[in-house]
Amino acid sequence: MVPSVLARKGKSKLTMITAYDAPSARIAERAGVDMILVGDSLAEVVLGYEDTLSVTVDDMIHHTAAVTRTHPQALVVADMPWLSYHVSVEDAVRNAGRFIREAKAGAVKLEGGRKRLPVISAILAAEIPVMGHLGLTPQSVHAFGGYKVQGKSESAARELIADAIALAEAGVFAIVLECVPSMLARMITEQIAVPTIGIGAGPDCDGQVLVFHDVLGLHYGRQPKFVRRYASLADSATDALQQFFADVQSGSFPSDAESYRLDEETARALRLFKA
Ligand code: KIV
Repeated sequence: MVPSVLARKGKSKLTMITAYDAPSARIAERAGVDMILVGDSLAEVVLGYEDTLSVTVDDMIHHTAAVTRTHPQALVVADMPWLSYHVSVEDAVRNAGRFIREAKAGAVKLEGGRKRLPVISAILAAEIPVMGHLGLTPQSVHAFGGYKVQGKSESAARELIADAIALAEAGVFAIVLECVPSMLARMITEQIAVPTIGIGAGPDCDGQVLVFHDVLGLHYGRQPKFVRRYASLADSATDALQQFFADVQSGSFPSDAESYRLDEETARALRLFKA
């Protein structure tokens, strides 16, 4: 599956969507997505944390396994959470291996550029495919001083290009580019041999990724400007639940057709029975 992602470079656009459980994975698969990312955005989107830093390897494995139990054709990429690859190379390989052995992921993703090369090379040497992630890497939110577009100055852009080239040469099979100017994303895409997957990185990447709940409007509140919302499922869900509550109040739910019946003989015997 990783080779077929690589082979799409320059041929046709790749799609990736996050999913964190079996129902969302089944929907993504049915829609024909190429890759399912069990992102550490799980922390905010599903588990209610403020940022991605609180999610653990065990949390990520639990949710990745829920996705892979649906046996999708799509490549399942598991995000390695903060501190799962920062402490030592050995620790990183062991954690990456847990995503393959316990959660049955097809690849792992981790954030960062050249400073992550020792870890990336060791994970690759353990035969685990790695997807890189450059630009606005949310695990660095405190180091960045907030969620800001990256690579806007000439020097920052040059650093990002050098990071992307180094990661591609090290053997990652794709690189997520998050929140970088479109022109920089295009330059990176043209200069590396592996697909770039953009999120807030303009139209010239080799593919695009978005968060499942953002695309479907499954939550309320402000969204980044790069999100295109294709449905308003939170509104539909609220309407549906309000209708259910109203039907319960009015007595119209459940109807006879939604209820179970005793056969006539048992009903008659029960009516005659006096306690
Ligand atoms: O965790 C995530 O959802 C991600 C995507 C935004 C690329 O890393």
